[in-house]
Amino acid sequence: MSESHALKVLCVVGARPNFMKIAPLMQVFRSRGQQFEATLLHTGQHYDEAMKAAIFRQLSIPEPDIDLEVGSGSHTQQTAEIMLRFETQLNRLLPDVVLVVGDVNSTIACALVAVKQGVPVVHVEAGLRSFDRDMPEEVNRVLTDQISDLLFTTEPEGHENLLREGVSDERIQFVGNVMIDTLLANRDKAVPAQQTLAQFGANFSPDEGYAVLTLHRPSNVDDPVVLKRLVGVLADISSSVPLVFPVHPRTEQRISEAGLDNVIGNANILRTPPLGYLQLLGLMANARVVLSDSGGIQEETTALGVPCVTLRENTERPITVSQGTNTIVGTDIQAIRACVEEVLTTGGKAGRIPELWDGRAADRIADTMYSHYKGR
Ligand code: UD1
Repeated sequence: MSESHALKVLCVVGARPNFMKIAPLMQVFRSRGQQFEATLLHTGQHYDEAMKAAIFRQLSIPEPDIDLEVGSGSHTQQTAEIMLRFETQLNRLLPDVVLVVGDVNSTIACALVAVKQGVPVVHVEAGLRSFDRDMPEEVNRVLTDQISDLLFTTEPEGHENLLREGVSDERIQFVGNVMIDTLLANRDKAVPAQQTLAQFGANFSPDEGYAVLTLHRPSNVDDPVVLKRLVGVLADISSSVPLVFPVHPRTEQRISEAGLDNVIGNANILRTPPLGYLQLLGLMANARVVLSDSGGIQEETTALGVPCVTLRENTERPITVSQGTNTIVGTDIQAIRACVEEVLTTGGKAGRIPELWDGRAADRIADTMYSHYKGR
């Protein structure tokens, strides 16, 4: 570790859900220049304007100091390529710590390289478990947590999961949720739903009520039979409430390969490209219900107090169900239809905001990191 007062932190991002998590951390690190010297490295796992640049701009994330430009590929190709390119940068930059967020391939790839080089790893959003090893993210989470030195959790169950897996208590800290830091800091800047709907030529107004739909999990979109079943029930639901559907690039490809463009085109579904953070926030905040298989959206809807129907069999974020507005409905079409009808009729369950989801998680992380690495 260097003798200077500032802790040299190499912050890693790779894919869209990482960007909302790094934004408040970069801001805190850069505002405490005496304590931290933060470098931002983007692996390039996500690279499109809509998947990366727009979100960086809207959240005022500094341009990455380094872009590894790995792009897409199989899990092995992508992970291996990130590791090779990251190692070169790590040897050049010699940080005191490497900070990784979330559970994408970039998270585990960079954590693994760092730990093998003897550089401590800090994992933000540690301890989440779906207990479903078919999910690539679950493998990334379990492995990253096993090799991390400091582990920051968003909910109490994360702490329990880590203790059960043998992580020692003094390395785990419950700090709240950096993604909710971002949401609270940007809520007032959200683009009004009206504006986004008009931009994409919606034939309904937000006052009539609408639902937001996102879908990108391989388990839902990669198998054409499963995707067809899901698109069918969503098209049915759109006769009760119009759906706004920002389509992830993976899903875009799968929909056209499965020949489902017409089913969507003939339904009351407004299909858009992936949206910027402030557009999606504005749409979600005013939606009657959000239907999604995303991880982060389960938390964002809980923070917004908007009902979320999760199109998955499990969640790694159980507090969004026990305290928040989330219902795990799975992918059975009867169950989805019944759950959405119920939410539309009753307004969904009233949730509350989980402990420490207060907009100050990044501050707590910075405090703990500084005293852990520099204060002893
Ligand atoms: C990745 C993460 C997932 C996260 C999701 C959010 C892993 C294992 N998965 O999944 O946890 O929820 O990001 O979006 O890390 N593509 C583009 N432009 C881009 C990026 C991707 O067109 O900027 C296309 C490519 O065809 C690519 C496909 O999307 O093959 C999938 O991208 P990839 O990063 O492999 O996985 P995601 O499904 O995005």
